[in-house]
Amino acid sequence: MEGIRLVFLGPPGAGKGTQADYLKEQYGIEKISTGDILREAVRNGTKLGKLAASYMEKGELVPDDIILSLVKERISKLENFVLDGFPRTIIQAEGLDNILRELKKDLKAVIYFDIDDEKVIKRLTSRRVCPRCGAVYNLITNPPKNDEVCDYCGTALERRKDDNEATVRNRLQVYERDTLPLVDFYEKKGLLKKIDADRPPEEVLRSILGLLRNDIC
Ligand code: AP5
Repeated sequence: MEGIRLVFLGPPGAGKGTQADYLKEQYGIEKISTGDILREAVRNGTKLGKLAASYMEKGELVPDDIILSLVKERISKLENFVLDGFPRTIIQAEGLDNILRELKKDLKAVIYFDIDDEKVIKRLTSRRVCPRCGAVYNLITNPPKNDEVCDYCGTALERRKDDNEATVRNRLQVYERDTLPLVDFYEKKGLLKKIDADRPPEEVLRSILGLLRNDIC
C-alpha cells in the first residue's frame, strides 16, 4: 500500500469519522481527526483545550494557525493517512499544500461526502459517544445493545456538547461559508471524488473502496 493520503470533506455528521475508523480497522490507514485532537485537549484541560473549547461549544472554527501546526506535526510521521475534518478553510487547504510540498508527498484524493442538511441534523442529534473508549453510536441507526451504555467498555454514553440542534445548525452555516468553497478548490486540482453519503455505512464504504481499489486491495 503506497501513499494512501486522503482528505474526507463534508458537512458535520456526514459520516467522515465513521468511514475513517473503518479504514483504520480494516487497512491500518491512520486517521488524523482535528476534532478528536481538540476534544482530547479539552478533556485534558490543556491551554490548547481551553482555547479550543470556546470555539467548539459555539460550533465556530478554531483559528487556522493552531490547526495547521497540529496537523503538520502528525502528518510528517505518517506515510498513509486520512484527514478527517481538515482542511476546513482555503487557508488550511493552502497550508496543507505547503506542508505536503515540504515533505515531498501528495494527496491521492479528496472524498466529498454529499448529504442534505436535514439528514445530518437528525444524525447528529441522535449521536452518542463513549467518553472512555471513543466508540460512536447512533440511537436510530446504530444503537448500543443496552440502554445508552457502551457495548465495549460499559461506560455511560454521552452526547457531544456541540450536538444540540442550535449548535448543529450553526456548524452547518459555518461549513457552508468556510468549508464548501473547498469543493471547487479541489475540483480544480482534479482531486475531488464525490460520494453519496446518504446510504448505509457499508454502502458508503464500498464506494470509497471502489475509488481506491487498485491502491489498497
Ligand atoms: P469535528 O469533530 O471535525 O466535527 P464535524 O466535522 O462537525 O464532524 P462530525 O464528527 O460531527 O461528523 P462526521 O462526519 O465525522 O460523522 P460521524 O461519522 O461521527 O469538529 C468539531 C469542532 O472542532 C468544529 O466545530 C470546530 O470547532 C473544531 N474543529 C475541528 N476541526 C477543525 C478545523 N480543521 N479547523 C477549525 N476548527 C476545527 O457520524 C455522525 C453520526 O451519524 C453518528 O452517530 C454515526 O453513528 C452516524 N452515521 C455515520 N454514518 C452513517 C450512515 N452512513 N448512515 C446512518 N448513520 C450514520
